[in-house]
Amino acid sequence: MTATKKYILAIESSCDDTSAAVLCHTNVLSNVVATQEIHKQYGGVVPELASRAHQQNIVPVVHQALAKANIDKKELSAIAFTRGPGLMGSLLVGTSFAKSLALGLNVPLIEVNHMEAHILAHFIEDENKPQPTFPFLAMTISGGHTQIVKVTDHFTMEVLGETLDDAVGEAFDKSAKLMGLPYPGGPLVDKYAKLGNPNAFDFPKPKVDGLNFSFSGLKTSILYFLQRETQKNPKFVEENINDICASVQHTILDILMEKLQMAVDQTGIKQVAIGGGVAANSGIRARLKEAEETLGWQTFIPKFEYCTDNAAMIGIVGYLKFEKGKFTDQSVAAKARYAIGS
Ligand code: KG4
Ligand code: ZN
Repeated sequence: MTATKKYILAIESSCDDTSAAVLCHTNVLSNVVATQEIHKQYGGVVPELASRAHQQNIVPVVHQALAKANIDKKELSAIAFTRGPGLMGSLLVGTSFAKSLALGLNVPLIEVNHMEAHILAHFIEDENKPQPTFPFLAMTISGGHTQIVKVTDHFTMEVLGETLDDAVGEAFDKSAKLMGLPYPGGPLVDKYAKLGNPNAFDFPKPKVDGLNFSFSGLKTSILYFLQRETQKNPKFVEENINDICASVQHTILDILMEKLQMAVDQTGIKQVAIGGGVAANSGIRARLKEAEETLGWQTFIPKFEYCTDNAAMIGIVGYLKFEKGKFTDQSVAAKARYAIGS
């Protein structure tokens, strides 16, 4: 007799992407993401607008995810959702929707920590990608997060270090904004950096103990640097955009790689798994490849659609929790601040 297949519907609404996915065990059948374009004109995410857009998007996005997976909602085994961390108004939309749907369908509800999901995204089935084995180090780098985590098993994780102020994606975006580039500027900094000299300009690196990060000082030093130079030459940014981007990116990558190296030395673990939107950066990819060749690391980066905020990563945690019977009571509430392992 064949065991019945489990279908998990997952919902992600922690920031500015409304996403729904259907998984059959570790396989993603659909992963629909509605990215909210409205924030572009404000140069960053506006929480109030994000929650309103989630409310508009959530039902169509869920319908689309079910249709793409060719699954009827009556076939679902459980509903997984992001409980936190994130923007409260945004989380409330996904949480309330997931609770109601689970109640209506009479299936289990499974809460998921968004940061754990970024890490467990590495276990989504992908025939072209090898998966890390336990224990491994995970570094999540995005517009909202910068964290190094020791992962002992699917549900045992320890945060070794995290940012004390801005996230690394914010460092990219804010630097880009100072250069007059549109939001989000990270991909543009990456693009121009490819054409520039990474040693053209020097920016100070923060002195932060242990494995924690700080990026707010870098932004300030770039601001003063650009103010000084444009006073001398109003066309400084325009004429040097490639070199400025290459130097900024070089500084940010040095900070990330130094901390990763420290984490590897401290733990003796050489498997390093990267996630989050900044994992798209071509410079970090090159640095990791270099570390594989020169330091014997094994590095892992999931498919890009599983790096940025998405519901498939919520679904994989949903499935892993389903298998362990880790269900959530209907009295659950969204949690804006939600540390890994708490
Ligand atoms: O994971 P993500 O889509 O959203 C969250 O922040 O949760 O990450 C978006 C961040 C933005 O800050 C964006 O500028 C940055 O990732 N990013 C990049 C690149 N692509 C996206 N930063 C540097 N280089 C890139 N190629
Ligand atoms: Zn995220």
